[in-house]
Amino acid sequence: MSVLAIEGGRKLEGEIAVQGAKNAVLPILAATIMNGGKNTIYNCPKLRDVDKTIEVLEYLGCKVKRQENTLTVDSSSLKEFTIPEELMRQMRSSIIFLGAIVNTFGRATVSMPGGCEIGNRPIDLHLKALRQLGIEIKEEHGYIECSANVIKGANIHLDFPSVGATENIMLSSCRAKGTTTITNAAREPEIVDLQNFLNDMGAKISGAGGSVIQIDGVQTLHGTEHTIITDRIVAATYLACGAATGGSIVLKRVDPAHMEAMINVLKDMGCRLTSEKDKIILYPCKCLKEIPMLRTMPYPGFPTDTQSPFMTLAAIADGTSIFVETIFENRYKHVEELVRMGADIQVDGRVAVVRGVKKLSSANVSARDLRGGAALVVAGLAADGITRISNVEYIDRGYEDIEKYIGYLNGNIKRINC
Ligand code: UD1
Repeated sequence: MSVLAIEGGRKLEGEIAVQGAKNAVLPILAATIMNGGKNTIYNCPKLRDVDKTIEVLEYLGCKVKRQENTLTVDSSSLKEFTIPEELMRQMRSSIIFLGAIVNTFGRATVSMPGGCEIGNRPIDLHLKALRQLGIEIKEEHGYIECSANVIKGANIHLDFPSVGATENIMLSSCRAKGTTTITNAAREPEIVDLQNFLNDMGAKISGAGGSVIQIDGVQTLHGTEHTIITDRIVAATYLACGAATGGSIVLKRVDPAHMEAMINVLKDMGCRLTSEKDKIILYPCKCLKEIPMLRTMPYPGFPTDTQSPFMTLAAIADGTSIFVETIFENRYKHVEELVRMGADIQVDGRVAVVRGVKKLSSANVSARDLRGGAALVVAGLAADGITRISNVEYIDRGYEDIEKYIGYLNGNIKRINC
């Protein structure tokens, strides 16, 4: 158990290179099991969710080595097609292994991932799509059992552009017989990264980044090397930290094209930003303006994952901001904690009304989920005095050494191990 102690009121200044993307590395690590070879993955962030994914890979029989931010995964001795409950429960996104395992063994058994802190998170779209590929699925005793003699390409329309379902279809169909087409596919940059990785290992996929993805089944796959894209959500969180303190920061190794929705909102709030090929510069902003309406949407809309850090900005902006969370039903858990710090926020279902206050005051608060925890870091940096955040494990799921990066930016966060 650790606590983050954050000194508020220091302007962030300086430059950092942003970590690799959690949501890209997890499906790519799952994909490594399919090629029975040696894979080298660069720019892997050091995160709790990556460690949990490595545990799953090792359980399945892979040999995994980490050297700093490089992971090697040798899947030549893969032996297991079952993921037990204790591993599945640790991280909901392990459901992504379902497609990779069934594509490799023609069968897979994984425990139901269950609910999680941000909402119910059903997997009906994943299962419906796998059935369309000719995979038989039984749901019994809390486990999902898949089997298929032949996985056959199909035309799959997703009722909602689910990130995980799109990834599971890409994984389960890349060695299918024939062609699979996904319409209304998720368009997130992490899907493009997965396509690039799968193609590097011999798959034939096109269209990722748009809403139609075509997967032509191939016979064999092989090990490969790949560099994970930068984490646009972490980058946006650091921009929020800079903006909340009136600071000026430079983010390197980022792709501004992935961050347009978030950059636009910051500009609407009165921040001045410039971007170059792989760099974003945030200049000091004396006074933040309200966000008339922020609605979370699938990419390229405003991401649900940065709703909470941006709500902290709205909490100290002039005027009243309205947030509508359309993706997950339970993603306002940070509100109670922000209110403890003096924020004026009212929630009714999926709508939050945020009336800006002059200043937040430090308090002892608790991270209740990953991105909500990040919102509290932004709040602590902007508040008077020392804010202590407990349940830091949530933040560690997605932010590599957050205290170190904020330290490079002249902030002061101490991790206290209790
Ligand atoms: C991924 C990201 C997560 C991000 C989310 C939305 C990873 C590891 N996680 O999660 O950080 O917040 O995308 O950008 O990449 N849904 C169904 N049925 C399904 C699947 C999804 O109803 O079978 C619903 C969900 O309940 C939710 C919406 O679709 O309301 C979006 O979920 P989805 O895009 O699947 O998110 P994840 O892949 O779980």
